[in-house]
Amino acid sequence: RRSIRINCGKNMIDFTLTSDQELIQQTAREFAREHLAPGVIERDDKAEFPNEQIKLLGELGFMGMMVPEEWDGSGFDTVTYVIAMEEIAAVELATSTVMSVNNSLVCQLFVDYGTEKQKEKYLRSLASGTKLGAYSLSEPQSGSDASNMRTFAQKDGDHYVINGTKNWVTNGINSDIVTLFCLTEKGAGYKGITAFVVEKGTPGLSVGKKEDKLGIRASDTCELYFENCRIPVENRIGEEGQGFKIAMKALGGGRIGIAAQALGLARAALDASITYAKERKQFGKTIGEFGAIQNILANMATEIDAARFLIWRAAKLKDEGKNYIRESSMAKLFASSTAMKAATDCVQIHGGYGYMQEYGVERLMRDAKITQIYEGTSEIQQLVIARDLLQ
Ligand code: CAA
Repeated sequence: RRSIRINCGKNMIDFTLTSDQELIQQTAREFAREHLAPGVIERDDKAEFPNEQIKLLGELGFMGMMVPEEWDGSGFDTVTYVIAMEEIAAVELATSTVMSVNNSLVCQLFVDYGTEKQKEKYLRSLASGTKLGAYSLSEPQSGSDASNMRTFAQKDGDHYVINGTKNWVTNGINSDIVTLFCLTEKGAGYKGITAFVVEKGTPGLSVGKKEDKLGIRASDTCELYFENCRIPVENRIGEEGQGFKIAMKALGGGRIGIAAQALGLARAALDASITYAKERKQFGKTIGEFGAIQNILANMATEIDAARFLIWRAAKLKDEGKNYIRESSMAKLFASSTAMKAATDCVQIHGGYGYMQEYGVERLMRDAKITQIYEGTSEIQQLVIARDLLQ
């Protein structure tokens, strides 16, 4: 067993994997090899949602990994979650995106803020993978400036009536349950935002077309339209005005998962690059014998290990109940840039073959880009880190 200790502030963190973590890593790796690898290029090409694969992930307990067992989750910690995420993402980033949103943005939000009734009604099925969740924060005019939203929930007796448009909603089409952030008080800034849960099929909620994306094409992304959509007061999560902090807390944890996705993709890029560097011959020797290629591989491997340490540190801090917001943003910032660079270098090493769809590495380059954008762009991560440094 690998024992890895890194210095984190005053604490030395021991990263020896437990036997449970090794088992999860192995299970995720085998699942990805058997159930994701065979159709990955085709699903990407046809933008086909991995229905069967998500169902199987649910059966394995991978859709509610950090949900306590009493709510039908797997009861694992965040470190175990990122270990699994790395393995799934190494083979198909799109599937890991679906998994990530359900686990860290939806289930975790119910764990932290849901009432007993909401947990009974929604969390059990989300955690066991029989239902799928989406998280709906962004709007056409409010991406990075998340609190600048317009969607409004008007209180009407024991109901709220919602009007507005949400966009870039991952799982928006295939989900059964949507967590939603809207204004309940205009002009109050982030203090006027409230969180809700809305079931698909509620009159007044309609789903837009599937967006045609550069990468993670197998996952679905769409707009959601709310037109006089009535939901009962019991669908409010937390108190009125608490919504922005609820959204931010979910994203703080979610970003560790996105960093782990990026790590998985970067590792896949390194593995493909090493294999190719050992096989491909030019000028009478393998390209791996050239210093130019060796330098790229060495940097790639070093950055991947550094990313993994940042991710495990953030996850460990979260598991220990310590403040992890800066470390979560650092992990996402670094891992996503590592992924983008590794994928671009991987295509470069593969040359003309790298540019062709059938070799599978151009997908890495297209997929990697989203990790620098969703759940907070790299610039937003820099802002979060810098604000924490300067406060
Ligand atoms: N946890 C808890 N509270 C937090 C917090 C966090 N991580 N971050 C901020 N807050 C609190 C602040 O403390 C503050 O409260 P107080 O006044 O009581 O101190 C309040 O929230 C407002 O914070 P800010 O003044 O910092 O707010 P801001 O308007 O300047 O915005 C921001 C901060 C970090 C830029 C934020 O808007 C942000 O994260 N933007 C990016 C949004 C984002 O990540 N969107 C992703 C979309 S979802 C997605 O991609 C999911 C998907 O489908 C895959």
